[in-house]
Amino acid sequence: MHFSRFMELALYDQLDGYYASNRASVGKEGDFFTSVSVGPVFGAVLASQFLEMWDRLGQPPDFQLIEQGGNDGRLACDILNALADTPLACARLTLIEPLAHLREKQSATLSDHDVRWIEGPEKLEGFQGIHFSNELFDALPFDILEARSGLWHELLVHADDEGFHFNRSCQTLADVPLPPRPDGFQVEIRRHQRELLQAVSNRLQRGFLLAIDYGMTHAELLAPHRSGGTLACYARHQRDAAPLENPGEKDITAHVDFTALARDATACGLHLEGYTDQHHFLVGASTPLLKSLEALPLTRSTLKILRSLRTLLHPETMGTQFKSILFSKNAALAKPLSGFQHAKNSDYLLDQRHAPISA
Ligand SMILES: C[S@@+](CC[C@H](N)C(=O)[O-])C[C@H]1O[C@@H](n2cnc3c(N)ncnc32)[C@H](O)[C@@H]1O
Repeated sequence: MHFSRFMELALYDQLDGYYASNRASVGKEGDFFTSVSVGPVFGAVLASQFLEMWDRLGQPPDFQLIEQGGNDGRLACDILNALADTPLACARLTLIEPLAHLREKQSATLSDHDVRWIEGPEKLEGFQGIHFSNELFDALPFDILEARSGLWHELLVHADDEGFHFNRSCQTLADVPLPPRPDGFQVEIRRHQRELLQAVSNRLQRGFLLAIDYGMTHAELLAPHRSGGTLACYARHQRDAAPLENPGEKDITAHVDFTALARDATACGLHLEGYTDQHHFLVGASTPLLKSLEALPLTRSTLKILRSLRTLLHPETMGTQFKSILFSKNAALAKPLSGFQHAKNSDYLLDQRHAPISA
């Protein structure tokens, strides 16, 4: 089978999948942590970006927030708490969540808020507002390609009495126009992310799609020192590179190819507004939060906020590995949103002189 199918079963099988079976645990005590587990600061900064987006759209009254891949609902809760005394206090928030046990967790976390759920983006009604996600795209199933004699072959998963193995397909992939790489070079591709982007774009009448995740550009992923690809498995903060061992017991992930994401989103009718690392994003977007702290005495809780902010934007922790990418639909921005004011021009992601990656 394609590795993407194996990964879909290992992570999302209703009985034994890592995410579907309630084994996944995010946070300090869990398998891995995300910007959300650092504290409510991340949600507070996103809330101020959402206010800015709402303002740029002309303050529409029917503005909606849609989160996909929200895990236990913590980020949605942090955002809604931060919006409580703002004009977006009544904005409707919808969680796109196919897994029943996660809907239950989200419902407990968000018990003080009025939110609703749908199982997939195709169930969305036409909306004006923002689709946002943190670490969703890295969790989407991907396939693995390996270079051999100047061509690319897919690694397929085979099962026998001894377990699962990778076998290199003898067919070459003519439909994946990647540049040649030395024998054994591996790269991951997400063939199915375009379906998700198309479903959201079809229903987004006016507004934005904001995705935050770890990853890099296509060219960076194909750099000589990344010949082994970026696949990694996580369980209890231990990392390994053996996805075929103990499926269902650990997370399987690979860096997001932001070039492929930008090209897929553009092909789905979205317009690229900006791409930058979390360090630059937070430096640009955290001004309202820092201003709000100026009025407060320096207490333990304000110091905690500053420490969280430092963890999120420090180049050696989460500042450079994580990236933010913003797309618009029928809402092109005359000047960048504050989170992208320090970003370099991101048009190079769409430059067709570089080979497209999506199959
Ligand atoms: C790495 S976790 C990130 C959780 C959370 N956003 C955070 O930052 O802490 C990835 C999440 O994406 C979810 N996910 C993966 N594919 C999805 C899909 N097609 N629709 C909705 N959620 C999905 C998984 O169930 C999991 O909760």
